[in-house]
Amino acid sequence: MKLVTVVVPVAVLSLGFVSALPNAPQGYTPTSVTCPASRPTIRSASSLSPNERAWLEVRRQQTIPSMKDFFRHIDMGAFDAVSYLTDHASNISNIPNVGIAVSGGGYRSLTTGGGALKAFDSRTKDANQPGHLGGLLQSATYLSGLSGGGWLVGSIYLNNFTTISDLQTYREGQVWQFQHSIMKGPKLEGLQSWDTVQYYRDLAKAVAGKKAAGFNISLTDYWGRALSYQLVNATQGGPSYTWSSIARTSDFQDGKMPLPLLVADGRNPGETLVGSNSTVYEFNPWEFGSFDPSIYGFAPLEYLGSYFSDGSIPLNQACMRGFDNAGFVMGTSSSLFNQFILQLNGTSLPPTLKTILAEILECLGAHNSDIAIYSPNPFHAYRNATAAYAETPDLNIVDGGEDNQNLPLHPLIQPLRKIDVIFAVDSSASTPNNWPNGSPLIATYERSLNASGIAKRTPFPSIPDKNTFLNLGLNSRPTFFGCNSSNITTGPAPLIVYLPNYPYSTYSNTSTFQMKYAISERDAMITNGYEVVTMGNLSRGPLSEDWPACVGCAVLSRSLERTGTPVPGVCVRCFERFCWDGTRNSSTPAYYDPEPLGGYRVL
Ligand SMILES: *[C@@H]1O[C@H](CO)[C@@H](O)[C@H](O)[C@H]1NC(C)=O
Ligand SMILES: *[C@@H]1O[C@H](CO)[C@@H](O)[C@H](O)[C@H]1NC(C)=O
Ligand SMILES: *[C@@H]1O[C@H](CO)[C@@H](O)[C@H](O)[C@H]1NC(C)=O
Ligand SMILES: *[C@@H]1O[C@H](CO)[C@@H](O)[C@H](O)[C@H]1NC(C)=O
Ligand SMILES: *[C@@H]1O[C@H](CO)[C@@H](O)[C@H](O)[C@H]1NC(C)=O
Ligand SMILES: *[C@@H]1O[C@H](CO)[C@@H](O)[C@H](O)[C@H]1NC(C)=O
Ligand SMILES: *[C@@H]1O[C@H](CO)[C@@H](O)[C@H](O)[C@H]1NC(C)=O
Ligand SMILES: *[C@@H]1O[C@H](CO)[C@@H](O)[C@H](O)[C@H]1NC(C)=O
Ligand SMILES: *[C@@H]1O[C@H](CO)[C@@H](O)[C@H](O)[C@H]1NC(C)=O
Ligand SMILES: *[C@@H]1O[C@H](CO)[C@@H](O)[C@H](O)[C@H]1NC(C)=O
Ligand SMILES: *[C@@H]1O[C@H](CO)[C@@H](O)[C@H](O)[C@H]1NC(C)=O
Ligand SMILES: *[C@@H]1O[C@H](CO)[C@@H](O)[C@H](O)[C@H]1NC(C)=O
Repeated sequence: MKLVTVVVPVAVLSLGFVSALPNAPQGYTPTSVTCPASRPTIRSASSLSPNERAWLEVRRQQTIPSMKDFFRHIDMGAFDAVSYLTDHASNISNIPNVGIAVSGGGYRSLTTGGGALKAFDSRTKDANQPGHLGGLLQSATYLSGLSGGGWLVGSIYLNNFTTISDLQTYREGQVWQFQHSIMKGPKLEGLQSWDTVQYYRDLAKAVAGKKAAGFNISLTDYWGRALSYQLVNATQGGPSYTWSSIARTSDFQDGKMPLPLLVADGRNPGETLVGSNSTVYEFNPWEFGSFDPSIYGFAPLEYLGSYFSDGSIPLNQACMRGFDNAGFVMGTSSSLFNQFILQLNGTSLPPTLKTILAEILECLGAHNSDIAIYSPNPFHAYRNATAAYAETPDLNIVDGGEDNQNLPLHPLIQPLRKIDVIFAVDSSASTPNNWPNGSPLIATYERSLNASGIAKRTPFPSIPDKNTFLNLGLNSRPTFFGCNSSNITTGPAPLIVYLPNYPYSTYSNTSTFQMKYAISERDAMITNGYEVVTMGNLSRGPLSEDWPACVGCAVLSRSLERTGTPVPGVCVRCFERFCWDGTRNSSTPAYYDPEPLGGYRVL
């Protein structure tokens, strides 16, 4: 046995003290702090950040034992995946690099995606039994979320990388109590009744503090604060929790979990977004920015809210901290839901509440209600940003699904990240009945084709049209895209494992705007999400035979190519069954109306 020496990179150590998660200096209000010795700057998107590169060295080593644990309970036939990983562990570039993406779609995607992550998590009871997929989460390097999928990712990371099983056990007054509408607020433990008025007062007070400190505010500030009460298990939803604080926790620094990424889009007032021209932003634990040519830069997340010009904070300007409030970041990715606050105005509310709301709405109005204001614009006068972004004092950011790319694939398909496979859990409401039909993949594919468009031909596998998805049933079972890497002519691209929401044990196509879930309904959705990714724990007859091995094959596929290893027999069969083979049928499909399988009906 060879001894692998893990060199802990200096950049990780130099983060210094390890503080607890709530680390904003003054709650929700961004505040000036002493600038660090080397003043924060905007950097070019031409490389990954030094922080990410250093972290990857630690994390990638951690994924090796996790992947071995995963393959120990997956029957790969004659192929010994554990030995394969051992044999190639000395060159980490040969080890599979796994990403997981959770789509938008409100609580439907939070719960369905939650079930998927529960199935992928080795800490879930029975998830390491034969036929289950526990350990895929621990094997992943990246985990991205958007809108409702972002609530899921945020809630896990802001609660110390907790498990879905744990989140399901929280009680009244704590998080994940979706039986109470977010508009009503939490029922505090020990209290007989709700104090909705106090809840709104608290929301308003927090945001008023930010405004009084001179910051532009938007409905997203209220929305993000409200979300925090449901997602962050701390008093008043933890006003001091920041997204950048994730990077300061020791388990994260030790590479014990995947890198969490949230996605949002840039949009100016009155604009319409489409995939071919949207600027897609990511929030990672260190930075906020975009690989797209319109920005092509990253800002240090912790110092958002500071005034940057031409990529740095002028000497006469203070360094601000606390702007990247975790709820505000999650609210930005899901700003589509801001409209709920507007709708409240029409309902019968107690007069006190009406007054508070009137004050909130007075200064904001209904126009562009979905926009989150990032002001000052960190990319102001930044040389590499195109004129439109370099000239505005504010950046306007919206829900990551508004350009139809409702799966947060953008950060995961960046060639710099060299991801081999993306498990894409799609709970989009793309059909009239709120089922997926491949739309987010199509949007990303079309964007990737456009040589003059913003994605500049970022390599992405070929994806057929919506009718083909329905006619061939590619949306009613897992489907792999891009199995044949030689067929992707634009360059190396990950294999996409498309995992569409499908009714196994419950109708999991609830409306995106359903704002209340009884605990039993929440849990039924989570179980169904578990079944979406395990194919009902292999209960779909011949189609689901060998499914765990097929997941293993998807993980290994690009790695096998790199090491010149012949494709194992079990994988040849898996790829025949699950890879889209290029067949198209674009005729008008029959009305799509799937019924719960009860776990046992054979398709
Ligand atoms: C601008 O982008 C180019 C690559 O296109 C890079 O070489 C340069 O360093 C960037 N400039 C700044 C200020 O980041
Ligand atoms: C976070 O979780 C880890 C792993 O379960 C545990 O060791 C640690 O004590 C937890 N930290 C806090 C602050 O709860
Ligand atoms: C942000 O605030 C500045 C200064 O108060 C103002 O000029 C600007 O119009 C505001 N932006 C928005 C989008 O409200
Ligand atoms: C959530 O927070 C409450 C109050 O701070 C605490 O009592 C409880 O133990 C926490 N729940 C979990 C599951 O950590
Ligand atoms: C993006 O394209 C759409 C549709 O072609 C157009 O309406 C919109 O103005 C464009 N937006 C930008 C920012 O170019
Ligand atoms: C809220 O409702 C009041 C009257 O019910 C109306 O005057 C006001 O314009 C509404 N505000 C918004 C932002 O819709
Ligand atoms: C390609 O991108 C350009 C520039 O953004 C845009 O004008 C054009 O409509 C796009 N084409 C397609 C097919 O999306
Ligand atoms: C993979 O794609 C290449 C290029 O299109 C093609 O020549 C080859 O036959 C394909 N292989 C399979 C197994 O389909
Ligand atoms: C590691 O593997 C990569 C990809 O297969 C290869 O390009 C590289 O040369 C290898 N490095 C070493 C040191 O063998
Ligand atoms: C192979 O590439 C061609 C050309 O881009 C494309 O039309 C076809 O759908 C691809 N086949 C598969 C199976 O992805
Ligand atoms: C859910 O799907 C079923 C059948 O596919 C349909 O009958 C029902 O109306 C859908 N529910 C919603 C809320 O869209
Ligand atoms: C699949 O396994 C999960 C976790 O053990 C369980 O909750 C669920 O009921 C199972 N579903 C079926 C269809 O067997």
